[in-house]
Amino acid sequence: MAMLKDKKIVLGVTGGIAAYKAVEVASRLRKAGAEVHVIMTKGATNFVTELTFREISGNPVTTTMWGEVTQWNVEHIALANLADMVLIVPATANLIAKAACGMADDMLTTTLLATKAPIVYAPAMNSNMYTNPLTQENISKLNNLGWNMIPPASGHLACGINGVGRLPEPVDIVAFVENYFAKTASMAGLKVLVTAAGTYEPIDPVRYIGNRSSGKMGYAIAREAKKRGAEVILVSGPSALTPPEGVRTIKIESASSMREAVLAEYPSVDIVIKAAAVADYRVKNVSDHKIKKKDEELVLHLEKNPDILKELGELKQKQTLVGFAAETQKLIDYAKEKIQKKNLDMIIANDVSKPGAGFNTDTNIIKIITRDGNIEELPMASKDSLAGEILDRVMKLR
Ligand SMILES: Cc1cc2nc3c(=O)[nH]c(=O)nc-3n(C[C@H](O)[C@H](O)[C@H](O)COP(=O)(O)O)c2cc1C
Repeated sequence: MAMLKDKKIVLGVTGGIAAYKAVEVASRLRKAGAEVHVIMTKGATNFVTELTFREISGNPVTTTMWGEVTQWNVEHIALANLADMVLIVPATANLIAKAACGMADDMLTTTLLATKAPIVYAPAMNSNMYTNPLTQENISKLNNLGWNMIPPASGHLACGINGVGRLPEPVDIVAFVENYFAKTASMAGLKVLVTAAGTYEPIDPVRYIGNRSSGKMGYAIAREAKKRGAEVILVSGPSALTPPEGVRTIKIESASSMREAVLAEYPSVDIVIKAAAVADYRVKNVSDHKIKKKDEELVLHLEKNPDILKELGELKQKQTLVGFAAETQKLIDYAKEKIQKKNLDMIIANDVSKPGAGFNTDTNIIKIITRDGNIEELPMASKDSLAGEILDRVMKLR
């Protein structure tokens, strides 16, 4: 429990039927040594009284932005600045939607928008509200920005049906918070460079040769490393994804510009994870003008791009170097060969021909191979959770 000692936790309570469970969460956090400051939405005050939270937390409770100035509402963003974490229990569909839109129409949403502290949401609602595509889209949006969701449990809901949407037990919510702080400390002081997405190799001013990489795996790794307290640089090829909060993102297009960006950062980083799908070849004579459609055939001559990973392997000093191998055949053989040839410490191999693996999917199936020849096969999982598994293995190597 030492993890929570003196941590300043702003506990946001919203108007869901599970609001009463937030009282036990506040109590457990305080017992574990945290300083708890409660912000209630107007809706929440219909379920639990302000007085209850004041007594349990031992601090004044904020219910409005417009009230008389007391200890913490010296100004409306005082709690946002004070927080080591903002924890929302329960998080209604309404609060999640407002947060995903960046609204700030009450004290809690204003705090969410103004804080630099990590935000953890514990959604709880009727199953249909939870599985509604709008709610799911809002949750994904917050997840992609690097915020955290404590997944709701399944079971009997207050609305009388069985399904997903139940608030997890307070003891589990507090365990999540403790784990979060433990993880945050696990990569503190380390500088991590992640590359993501594919590259565009120009043919002429309007056309390029590209690949199907979305950047999802690399972005998930960057986001997770940031959550664990690392300083993260993300070198990304063209991608539709929003860069994670607090990650320095360098946008590039071609393999050569990726090489330049990566080599410039390389000397100062501790860990490099190259999840990008870098083009092996580029067009030899890029046309200065748009190529006109005239002949029946058009021949493009390609030349080899620099092998960035190999170069990093040759220049390696203190860095832990992790590569990816996306193959459609002889996965393990190619991956093992790549480890040796490129002086890697670890390789993440995925067979991109398998359903649920590889490019432009939300899931992946990976094998983690280390330099000593150890092969670990992981079952299909979301790229978000695999990002954590990969970083766990990288940290074990160091
Ligand atoms: C009895 C009752 C129970 C409710 N329970 C939930 C719930 O568990 N989850 C939820 O998302 N909304 C629930 N709602 C709806 C919210 O209270 C409503 O969307 C409200 O606008 C939320 O405001 P807030 O997010 O600012 O607290 C409930 C409403 C009532 C009347």
